[in-house]
Amino acid sequence: MYHVLSAHQFDRIQLDQLFRMADIMEYNAKNGGTNLLQGKIMAALFFEPSTRTRFSFESAMMRLSGSVISTENATQFSSAIKGETLEDSIRVISSYADVIVLRHNEEGAAKRAAQVAGVPVINAGDGSGEHPTQSLLDLYTIQKELGAIDGLKVAMVGDLTYGRTVHSLSYMLAKYEKVTVYFVSPENCPIPEKVKAYLDERGVTYFEETDLEKVSGEVDVLYMTRIQKERFPSGEEYLKAAGKYVINQEIVDGMKPNAIILHPLPRAGEILPEVDGDARAAYFRQATNGVYIRMALLAYCLKEQQLERDLEALA
Ligand code: CP
Repeated sequence: MYHVLSAHQFDRIQLDQLFRMADIMEYNAKNGGTNLLQGKIMAALFFEPSTRTRFSFESAMMRLSGSVISTENATQFSSAIKGETLEDSIRVISSYADVIVLRHNEEGAAKRAAQVAGVPVINAGDGSGEHPTQSLLDLYTIQKELGAIDGLKVAMVGDLTYGRTVHSLSYMLAKYEKVTVYFVSPENCPIPEKVKAYLDERGVTYFEETDLEKVSGEVDVLYMTRIQKERFPSGEEYLKAAGKYVINQEIVDGMKPNAIILHPLPRAGEILPEVDGDARAAYFRQATNGVYIRMALLAYCLKEQQLERDLEALA
């Protein structure tokens, strides 16, 4: 059974395969979809709010002719409110669906779910832990926009402690050659030690910085993130970090002509709307890519063995 729990689990061969599949899925999505997952059911179990992840997974499943059962705000609208454990919910939903997409507020929840699930579990974000499918679409977008990932300079900016997307993206980037990472954050929300340890083990060059303007003109990818107000220990700590980094047209004008600006979204003031029309603003294209990469991932989880043959037939 193929669970998607962490960015750690992917190697370069799988990533290249997924990106090729996502290209084919884009073609299919734009040409009426495919019946690759006809008869299959995806359960979307979301204990935290989501717009992109839940809708793009649901859209992906429907474009593969599969069906969707879904609960948003599962904390309130599932039997969790009656005291049911995550494990019991997952055991039961495993008999109703062929794959479970789980977003949860606790780090490690997807791993716990996978230990009792009878079907593949996909981690759609676990607290401040990871968001591996986001980093897949981030990398896919970088490759699509810039042609390659090896050798790039990537700045991750904002709340690097509680922002799970940057953790997964760092783990993924460590699989590529000669990538340089700049972690730009307020002093009270730096990149966690465990992420740096992972990069150290793999010989990835990285720098920590608090001044965005020192790096914005140097990098190929400027990856902005929201300050995660809901995860800070106090309002006072949040206010120390809030509003420190704001991308305006002046900053963008100082960037390389072929650089791109990414953001997992939602944004909360980190990128001014005046930048949206600039060709380097790639964050809405990035969100669109979420459907294609999640189509590829659902197919990968549900068709593991048969997939290569099916894709050949689709191509
Ligand atoms: N990028 C992301 O995870 O967005 P949502 O919270 O809207 O799913």
